[in-house]
Amino acid sequence: MNPDTKHREEQKPVMIRVAEVQVHGPTFATLFFDAPMDFSPGQFVMVWIPGVDEKPYTISYHSPDRFGITVEAKGLFSKKAVSLSPGDLVGFRGPFGKGFEIISSPDVAVVAGGCGMAPLACLVEQLDPKVCLIHGARSKEFILYPDRFELDRRICTDDGSLGHKGFVTDLLEEEIHTRTQSGQKPLDMVYACGPEIMMHRVFEICEDHGLPCQVSLERYMRCGFGVCGACVCGGQVVCSDGPVFGSEILRTLEDFNRTALLKSGKPVRLEEYATWRCS
Ligand SMILES: Cc1cc2nc3c(=O)[nH]c(=O)nc-3n(C[C@H](O)[C@H](O)[C@H](O)COP(=O)(O)OP(=O)(O)OC[C@H]3O[C@@H](n4cnc5c(N)ncnc54)[C@H](O)[C@@H]3O)c2cc1C
Ligand code: FES
Repeated sequence: MNPDTKHREEQKPVMIRVAEVQVHGPTFATLFFDAPMDFSPGQFVMVWIPGVDEKPYTISYHSPDRFGITVEAKGLFSKKAVSLSPGDLVGFRGPFGKGFEIISSPDVAVVAGGCGMAPLACLVEQLDPKVCLIHGARSKEFILYPDRFELDRRICTDDGSLGHKGFVTDLLEEEIHTRTQSGQKPLDMVYACGPEIMMHRVFEICEDHGLPCQVSLERYMRCGFGVCGACVCGGQVVCSDGPVFGSEILRTLEDFNRTALLKSGKPVRLEEYATWRCS
């Protein structure tokens, strides 16, 4: 296809009606759509609510004729998204970006922090059922999809209301240590998604132990397909080179856990980006 024609296609949203809304806990809701979506875990779509805005979301549920996005209510757009009802029209562009490289091995760890479980959920469903799934959240009501997976999930919470009181990285280090002590095979891959400070710590732990990892980064996105430059991070265009990046790229990514661009294009420290509200 001529690249100009391709870009025009990528810019046109496909309108689909909300089929069902499931509320999870105090701040999350999943919107389901009865339509096929050809995607691989870790890719994202640009979601348009007419009259409001357009924002990136990963697919959190997927079957041949239904998909879902899970939204954490934060600002104007996401609060509007979680209040949508069956029959409301939503526009979709994509899917865009490079998703996770899937490793078929039971010796894999998946590490999710808070809403980071959303992009990892469809990945978990494609991995070996014996993988080690570690999931952390502020407290037990923020653990997404508590009954969704067949496999054992190791839970931790900041306040100790469920599972280990502490961080997902404590449980990852414990898994690595147990494997070393018992002479088990080292992990073939560690997948992570969550706050960037957490993913950076997962990356450091993996580097210390010579393990490969893949993490899914978030940056401000506008076009979603590599044209506007809004999502650039240390020389990588997150929407088209990522959002999933492996250890090799992460080693060279000087903005990882350091800086991000605001909507205006201004670079700021990641702590400022994380608390910024653009709507
Ligand atoms: C690839 C990707 C996948 C994502 N998947 C999910 C998901 O599955 N579930 C989920 O709840 N959230 C996801 N997000 C984050 C989601 O896009 C933002 O939370 C949402 O845009 C917030 O909009 P708002 O108006 O409600 O909040 P605002 O008050 O506008 O912003 C709150 C925060 O959201 C982020 N944000 C705002 N606008 C954008 C934008 N255009 N692009 C990227 N980040 C933005 C910023 O970090 C900002 O600090 C994803 C982001 C990216 C980049
Ligand atoms: S969002 Fe436009 S280049 Fe990435």
